[in-house]
Formats: sequence, structure tokens, C-alpha cells
Amino acid sequence: MKKITVFRGDGIGPEIVSAVLQILDAAHVPLQYEIFDVGKNEYAKNGKLISDEAYASFDRNRILLKSPITTPIGHGFRSLNASLRIKYDLYANVRPAKSNPAVVTPYPDVYIVTVRENTEDVYAGVEERISDDEMHTIKIVTRMKSERIIRDAFNYARAHGRKKVTCVHKANIMKLTDGMFLDIFHDIGHGYPEIEKEDMIIDATCMNMVMHPERFDVVVTLNMYGDLLSDLTAGLIGGLGLLPSANLGRDYAMFEAVHGSAPDIAGKGIANPIAFLWSACMLLEHIGEDAIAANIRRAVDTVLLEGTFKTPDIGGSATTAQCTQAIISHLAD
Ligand code: NAI
Repeated sequence: MKKITVFRGDGIGPEIVSAVLQILDAAHVPLQYEIFDVGKNEYAKNGKLISDEAYASFDRNRILLKSPITTPIGHGFRSLNASLRIKYDLYANVRPAKSNPAVVTPYPDVYIVTVRENTEDVYAGVEERISDDEMHTIKIVTRMKSERIIRDAFNYARAHGRKKVTCVHKANIMKLTDGMFLDIFHDIGHGYPEIEKEDMIIDATCMNMVMHPERFDVVVTLNMYGDLLSDLTAGLIGGLGLLPSANLGRDYAMFEAVHGSAPDIAGKGIANPIAFLWSACMLLEHIGEDAIAANIRRAVDTVLLEGTFKTPDIGGSATTAQCTQAIISHLAD
């Protein structure tokens, strides 16, 4: 049986890991799990956010299902998420946001897939204290990393029958970094004549995505814009509880919900497990278990449409446990 590594983070992390592993077991997923606690609780116990054993497990298994980790703001350790993405070169962050008929929003026709560059831009971690009153962060954009993310976005569009790729940038201001990214987008785009190409400045994108989200299809962009825009897409479809993601590299892959550790609801038993479950479905599709993923996706759709077992973030009143059991009860044998 294939082994994967599971990181149980903090906040709602342990609750959604438990829910999702129950569903995967009930769906007879042919996987064995090596499960590790990571994050601030692990740090308090053992002085490390991620133990050497946990890293060694991911090194071996190359597939990681990761629940969210709390990151201190403005001080303390560097984001573990940013560190993992850079350490394992998980350069393509794919975030599909799709409207669901069971979750009513003003936007019933959204299906936007954000393909975010994950390893450079201002997240490369190059910051400098010039004086007590002046700090610098350096934005790094390289040709190689821009080419591979843009090519991946076009390949994703081609493989999934999508019609258009929009490149989001701010090349009017950042003429070198974003300017090069935009030039590369148009160069590579020539190789995909069947796909419509469009480029848009980030500020205009924010307005257009709110006013006409249905005009977006696949979006390829730099790290920071992708971070912000994909949360916007979560808002369009009804919240962060519904947005999964894959962080893909050439050798390693990590799957996680886009949301964080939600400390405001941790321990209350009301976290929505669906974004994390859909991330697990992306993992299953990545390793070729499409039929099992489809079974789980159908069960989730049934539970959402039926409505009784939705969690509070999407307008219901069910607990995580009730939602989990409802999904399990709708799995086909
Ligand atoms: P958050 O995503 O944790 O929460 C934002 C809001 O969405 C909260 O009201 C929360 O209750 C709600 N929410 C999020 N996920 C939910 C779910 N599954 N079910 C129901 N409601 C849900 O963002 P926030 O509060 O800004 O960040 C909390 C911590 O998480 C921070 O330390 C942040 O750095 C970290 N974080 C970690 C990420 C990761 O590990 N991948 C990603 C984003 C944030």
C-alpha cells in the first residue's frame, strides 16, 4: 500500500485531519499514513516546529497531506508554509474555486483556477533592516521560475479543457519583475493557440473579479497576487471552508486547504472539513485514484445539496462530526 505523510497542524488542524482520515478510510483509500504533529504545540513540546522524523517521512513518501499551522504575525518564526514550499520546491499552487449550487452566493457561475507561483516574489524571505525606521523586502522574480509556472498554467488549461488563461501582474509599476513575467506569458502563450490569452493589472483584476467573476477561467500570477486573489475567489464561492489546494513540484507534492488554523473556532467542533477533504481528493487524483476521489466528491455534493449537515460557515448548523458522518453515509460501496 502507498504511504503518505500527514501533518496535523494546530487550531482546527487536528479536528479536520481526524474527519478527513475517517472519510478516506470509509472510502477504502489504498493509503497508509505516517502522521506527525507539527506547529506551535510541537514547538512547545520538542523545540522544533517540524521534527526531523516528520521531514524524513515527507522526504521518503514525497506526498504530504498537511493541515493548517498557526504563524505568528510580525515576529517569531518564519511561516512554515512558505518554508515548506521553498524547501521542497513546491512551485505551483493550484487553487480551484467553483460555485456550488448548495451554497448560495451572489455569484452562481464561478469556476476560477488560480495557478500561483509559490517560491519567489516577496516570499523568498530577503528582508533587510536598514535602520530602526527603514525596512526593505526584496521582490525576486526569475526567468526560469516564471517560465515553469506559466507553462504549467497553460498545460493545466489544456489538460482540463479550459478556454482562457489570464496573466495577472503590475507591470505598469514593477517594469522589471512583473514586466519580465508578462513578456514570458505572451511568449509561451504562442505555443497554445487554442487557448485565449489575456493579461490584466492586479487592481483591475480585483474589480473585475468581483463584478464579472464568470469571465475568469485559469489565472496565472506571481506569489503575492496569487495569495490575495485566491482568497478573493474563496469569498466569491462562499468562504474559505470550500477552497482546496495542491502545491506541486517536480519531485514532491503537498495538499492542503487554503484556509488557516482558524483559532477563533478551534476546539468548538464546528470546523468545515470540506476544503481539506477536497484537497485530499486532489491528492487522490494526483496519484491516479480518480474513481475514489469521484466517489468522495459525489458524497460531498449530496450532503451539501441535501443541506441538513452543512457547517455554520456555509449557512448550516451541523458539527464537524455530523458533516463527516453524513459524507460517509453517502459514499458508494
Ligand atoms: P483563517 O483561514 O484561519 O480564518 C479566517 C476565517 O475563516 C475565520 O473566521 C475562521 O473561523 C474561518 N475559517 C477558516 N477555515 C474554516 C473552516 N475550515 N471551517 C469554518 N470556518 C473556517 O485565517 P486567519 O484567522 O487569518 O489565520 C489564522 C492562522 O492560520 C494564522 O496564524 C495564519 O498565519 C495561519 N494560516 C495558515 C495557513 C496554512 O497553514 N496553510 C494558511 C493561512 C493562514
